[in-house]
Amino acid sequence: MRPKHPVALITGASTGIGAATARALASEGYHLALGARRVAEVRTLAEELGAEHGIRTFASALDVRSTGSVKTFVDAAAASLGAIHMVVNNAGLARGVDPMATVPESVWREMFDTNVDGVLRVTQATLPYVRAAGWGHVVFLGSTASHGVYDGGSAYCGTKHAVKAFCETLRLELCGEPIRVSTVDPGMVETEFSVVRYGSKDKADAVYRGMTPLRAEDIAECIRWVLSLPDHVNIDEIIVKPRDQAAFTRVHRRPQV
Ligand SMILES: NC(=O)c1ccc[n+]([C@@H]2O[C@H](COP(=O)([O-])OP(=O)(O)OC[C@H]3O[C@@H](n4cnc5c(N)ncnc54)[C@H](OP(=O)(O)O)[C@@H]3O)[C@@H](O)[C@H]2O)c1
Repeated sequence: MRPKHPVALITGASTGIGAATARALASEGYHLALGARRVAEVRTLAEELGAEHGIRTFASALDVRSTGSVKTFVDAAAASLGAIHMVVNNAGLARGVDPMATVPESVWREMFDTNVDGVLRVTQATLPYVRAAGWGHVVFLGSTASHGVYDGGSAYCGTKHAVKAFCETLRLELCGEPIRVSTVDPGMVETEFSVVRYGSKDKADAVYRGMTPLRAEDIAECIRWVLSLPDHVNIDEIIVKPRDQAAFTRVHRRPQV
């Protein structure tokens, strides 16, 4: 049964969609475990949300590329907050748009280690707690790149196709248990994502020039809604794109004055 104040664990909560989701869930009274490599950011956010909403928070360093870091974070979060009911597998990144023929090994390894292995690590570490809690929800951050491909997207699209497969497999394996499994799959969202991918703010700005992208808060609202539905309702998948983006390569851009 849904507790009055479920505990949600969010990876990659230092900025972007993860931080916006923390804000959205705090306003609903969730207790929060927030992790990212930039620990100062997650600690500041946790303190702010705890003071503003009277919720309990746990914030600590988390690197999803390290099994030890994931286990330490998850165990400490559960010990601090008493349970883990919800997991938002959000930490992720893209690096560059190198063609498959030449994408450097270090680049595709970083994406797979974070987006694929990281999601497996967090899921394995948290699932025993979610099962023990007797009620829960696992949410994945997929992408429109879970559903299609584009030039230069081999590694990133590969990772997000894997996340889609994880989500669908976990739902099969948990069928009959009181745990829902969902994926929220955005198109273009203006966060630090493109700065990380292209290596500069100027290049990132060019991605959104002349069009209106989604905001992190739009995705947080999708996640909040998916979690808020009655227990018998499982939203398998949400694909959410800006109105200006009909497809990867079909983006409406207004002339710049
Ligand atoms: N923005 C988009 O257009 C878009 C579209 C579709 C899907 N997505 C997905 O949405 C998720 C969030 O992206 P975003 O747009 O919010 O990007 P963002 O603003 O760059 O945020 C990414 C978050 O992931 C964290 N992170 C990265 N590597 C990590 C690691 N090794 N360990 C722990 N945390 C790590 C970052 O924190 P630290 O750097 O502090 O560790 C940061 O909090 C990702 O999975 C991304 O693939 C984004």
